[in-house]
Amino acid sequence: MSTILIANPKGGSGKTTLATNLAGYFASRGRHVVLSDMDRQRSALQWLERRPYKLPLIHGQDGRGHYANSLSADWTIIDSPAGLRGEKLSQAVKDADFVIVPMQPSAFDIGATRDFLQILQEEKSIRKGRTFVSMIGMRVDNRTRAAQTLQEFLAASDFPSVGNLRNAQVYALAAEQGASLFDIRPSQVSRDLQQWAPLLHWLVNAKKQQAVKGK
Ligand SMILES: Nc1ncnc2c1ncn2[C@@H]1O[C@H](COP(=O)(O)OP(=O)(O)O)[C@@H](O)[C@H]1O
Ligand SMILES: [Mg+2]
Repeated sequence: MSTILIANPKGGSGKTTLATNLAGYFASRGRHVVLSDMDRQRSALQWLERRPYKLPLIHGQDGRGHYANSLSADWTIIDSPAGLRGEKLSQAVKDADFVIVPMQPSAFDIGATRDFLQILQEEKSIRKGRTFVSMIGMRVDNRTRAAQTLQEFLAASDFPSVGNLRNAQVYALAAEQGASLFDIRPSQVSRDLQQWAPLLHWLVNAKKQQAVKGK
């Protein structure tokens, strides 16, 4: 079982979009997926409530407070709230095998994320290589200057970046329907699906490294 924490204290950075789509990906591959929602706004759980029964099953979990880790799950994906910090953040990082930090190309997002990455770097399980961290750009329009600034920021960071997801209407449409990109006919979203490859590749590789370390 592996646990992925999706975190960035900045609201609107793309956490729920990333968490729900990642859950949809693993479910589409026949994996047992738990989507755990730490956010009192319950956006991820509401997405799950909208999810049609005919789509691959994802189990929902209220991730606030204490909960038993679902040992039968192949993947537990945790959507976290804006402003996650302090002891709650430390505990969530410690419990996670992976932390993925989504961020949008804006000066405000870069400022907030820079501080957050510094906090992550001080977490023991990250320093010891037990929890792996990566970053992904969300709603990136490559033609913009903001996108270029984001690339420079990501390149200078100590954590690897696993690409960008472009700004695409399909994310909002899928979200409305309780679907992920991986539930849509691939020919309709082929360009967007391609952009997920580096993230999925990184997860597989990092998981192998952890297996070698015996986590
Ligand atoms: N790649 C994308 N393309 C278009 N819209 C996106 C993309 N990623 C996120 N969004 C939109 O951005 C908004 C904020 O994303 P959300 O996942 O709710 O962020 P958070 O959970 O961090 O607050 C939502 O309306 C979502 O649909
Ligand atoms: Mg959210």
